[in-house]
Parts: sequence; structure tokens; C-alpha cells
Amino acid sequence: MNNASIGVFDSGLGGLTCVKELNSLMPNENIIYFGDTARVPYGTRSRETIKKYAGQDIAFFRQHDVKMIVAACATVSSVVGTDKNITGDIPFTGVLLPAAQTACSITRNGKIGVIATPATIKTGAYGKAIRNIRPEISVIGNSCPLLVPIVENGFTDKDNQIARLAVEHYLKPIKKEGVDTLILGCTHYPVLYDIIAGYMGENVRLVSSGAEAAKFVFSYLTRNEMLTERTKPGADTFYVSDSIQMFNENAGVYLGKNIKGDTFEIDIEKLAAE
Ligand code: DGL
Repeated sequence: MNNASIGVFDSGLGGLTCVKELNSLMPNENIIYFGDTARVPYGTRSRETIKKYAGQDIAFFRQHDVKMIVAACATVSSVVGTDKNITGDIPFTGVLLPAAQTACSITRNGKIGVIATPATIKTGAYGKAIRNIRPEISVIGNSCPLLVPIVENGFTDKDNQIARLAVEHYLKPIKKEGVDTLILGCTHYPVLYDIIAGYMGENVRLVSSGAEAAKFVFSYLTRNEMLTERTKPGADTFYVSDSIQMFNENAGVYLGKNIKGDTFEIDIEKLAAE
């Protein structure tokens, strides 16, 4: 048994879709969340920059008592992979593999769509992960550079015309291929779930990368007897690199409830250098 916290990070608010699932699977765990809101988006940046940011984000958690670190960011997961020089010695997971595993297990026609940030799509990491599990599957991917800014700016209502148009634009080529499973390969995208599901139709199943990572964390901690002994609800503590107010105002959309717990602003570059 282990009462340390679970550390979760993302470039911004998207990783909260993973926290939502962690809270529901393991309500007694303490969670420390870092959202790099001053430097979002990561997904349009170079590999070198993403690696540098990921290294700093992970260094932040080394200053806390965490038993596992979750990169609730597909962009980081796809660029960093399992590079121990960056991920370090604390048990670590990204969102990519858990999402790929679930998609492979539920597809019936062997056609999986993936939408993600430009950086993630460029690595081809989802496709590689899927074909490692089931080589016969065809993967149709598309990068969606506008979706993260749309979501971070709060255009998330299911009737929002900007969000609807962007979703249609990016999903049209994937829908045309007749996929029966679609990976929301960026943790920001589940906030647009209704719009995406509505456009793809009821025969296409959506896989949320953040939620799948949370399920993986639950099974890892269970298998390794690392769940908390606490019998009372755990605490969520949030750290951001930009405005606390903006974060607190928008976080509810991702968490599906109002933010409960404290939020602090940090200077990530300075902290990581200490
Ligand atoms: N939420 C992140 C992801 O899963 C990244 C968004 C971004 O910063 O571009 O890829």
C-alpha cells in the first residue's frame, strides 16, 4: 500500500479529462496536477522543445511525494515514449498505449481513426502502437491543429459553430474511410465529445486517451499493491504556470464538476532548474 500522490500533467487543461476518470476510479487517492497553461499548446512545437518541456514537467513532480507520473498529454507521450532519461525512475505512463490497446480490442472491422495534435501525428506513434498489437489493422490519422486552441478558448458548447465546423473539417476524411473506432488522441478532445460523436454517428465508438490512461493507472497500482490505504476521499491539488483564475473558471468543463481543491501558480522553468 502506498499513500503518496499520483502526479498528472498536461500542456494545459486537457489532462483534466484523465483526472476526471482517476477521481471516479480511485476517489481516495491524492492527485497533484500540473497544467503548463503558460506554454500551451505543445502540439505545434518541435520535438526538442516538447522534450525539454516534458523534462521540466517531470522534474517538478520529483519535488513532491508521487508514486506514479502520468503524462496526460498524447503529444508528450508520443515524443518522449519510454525514454528513461526523461521519464526517470518513478513509475510512468503516457496515454498512447492504453488508448491503442482499447481501440484494438473493440474494433470489429479493423479500421481505426486517430485524431491528435500535429506533433503526435507526425511521430506516427499511435499507428505504430496499434500495429504492434494487431498488424492487420488499418489506421487513418489526421492532425487537428485548431482543436486545442478552440477548446482552451472555451468554444466547447455542443452548438458552437466554430467547434462544429472544425470537427467536420478534420473528421471528414476519416469518416469517409468507414472506421468503426475513433481514438481521441489528444486529452483535450473529449470536451468536444458530443460534437465528435454526433458527426461520426452511432456506429463509431470513441476512445478517450485520458480516460484509458486512468484505467491503466488503476490496474497498475492495483497489481503492484500501491493503492492508498485511505478510506476517505483524497485531495486534488492543482498547479499552473499561468492565471489561476482562468484555470479555475474553465476546469469544470473538463472535470465534469466544479474544481474542488487548491490551485497554485508556479514558475516551471525556475522550479525545474532547482
Ligand atoms: N492535451 C495534449 C495532448 O494530449 C496537448 C495539447 C497541446 O498542447 O497541443 O496532446
